[in-house]
Amino acid sequence: MNEVPRGVGRTALATAWIRAGENDRPDRLFDDWLAPAFVAAAGDAVPLLPPDAEHRLGELTEVMTTYLIVRTRFFDDELLAAAQAGIRQVVLLAAGLDSRAFRLSWPAGTRLFEVDRPDMLTFKERVLTSAGTRPRCERHAVPADLTEDWVDRLLDAGFRPDEPTAWLAEGIIVYLSAEEAERLLTDVTRLSAPGSRLALEDSKGLADEMIEQARHIPPLGEFADLWKGGLEGASPAWLGDHGWRGREIDSTTVATGLHRPIPERLPVAGYFVTAQRTAG
Ligand SMILES: C[S@@+](CC[C@H](N)C(=O)[O-])C[C@H]1O[C@@H](n2cnc3c(N)ncnc32)[C@H](O)[C@@H]1O
Repeated sequence: MNEVPRGVGRTALATAWIRAGENDRPDRLFDDWLAPAFVAAAGDAVPLLPPDAEHRLGELTEVMTTYLIVRTRFFDDELLAAAQAGIRQVVLLAAGLDSRAFRLSWPAGTRLFEVDRPDMLTFKERVLTSAGTRPRCERHAVPADLTEDWVDRLLDAGFRPDEPTAWLAEGIIVYLSAEEAERLLTDVTRLSAPGSRLALEDSKGLADEMIEQARHIPPLGEFADLWKGGLEGASPAWLGDHGWRGREIDSTTVATGLHRPIPERLPVAGYFVTAQRTAG
């Protein structure tokens, strides 16, 4: 029996389900061919939108689905740009069912670390083993809690703090409190050699307009109850004060650029922040 992740791990199952749906589109923004395997292995445990989703969730569903698809593609491009710039060490914080190690074209010598909770990585490894697939880089799964001892686990797994790193914090900051998010970014900063890059989401905008609506809708309500807000829009300023040069872009603008426009009257679902380490 394959134990399926619970609690906050269920958010990764929902994300995999949405990515699996994207694969079927002729105009897909990525080909996440492993997502259907994760969804199949989780079976009934995948938190699906209810059958009358069209009617009940309407525009909120559309915004969230488009957001997750666009987010995936945006961060795909950011990581590949980092690789193209010569970075050969990648860390996916809260990797969940991210399949980038398997589906992106990494330069030779790339070492990629996936940090997530032990239950998530146990489930993931079982599915990957069944699929018989091989990563396109040197991949290390690092079971750890990002609010606890993850730095030691990452170092034990072979992470090299003296090399520039491409960090990704996708789908995690919003599930942390402000203190936890700041501690995570402080640790990331400490481990980042000059030239490192960091990409993350900022929850500004989610807070007011969407969380309240989402709370009343299963399964979004279950996830909204887990949101703690993270830095609530303050991450670019925080990064600027801690030796990073960052910029942010809202998901609606990115969606338009990727030809998945979100109607302007709908709220911005989130912001993507990218930064480069300027100081040692
Ligand atoms: C919304 S999913 C995002 C997964 C992946 N980054 C993606 O975008 O598909 C959130 C992930 O955060 C992980 N997570 C939440 N809290 C965590 C913590 N304290 N330590 C490690 N991982 C955590 C969950 O296990 C889950 O895989």
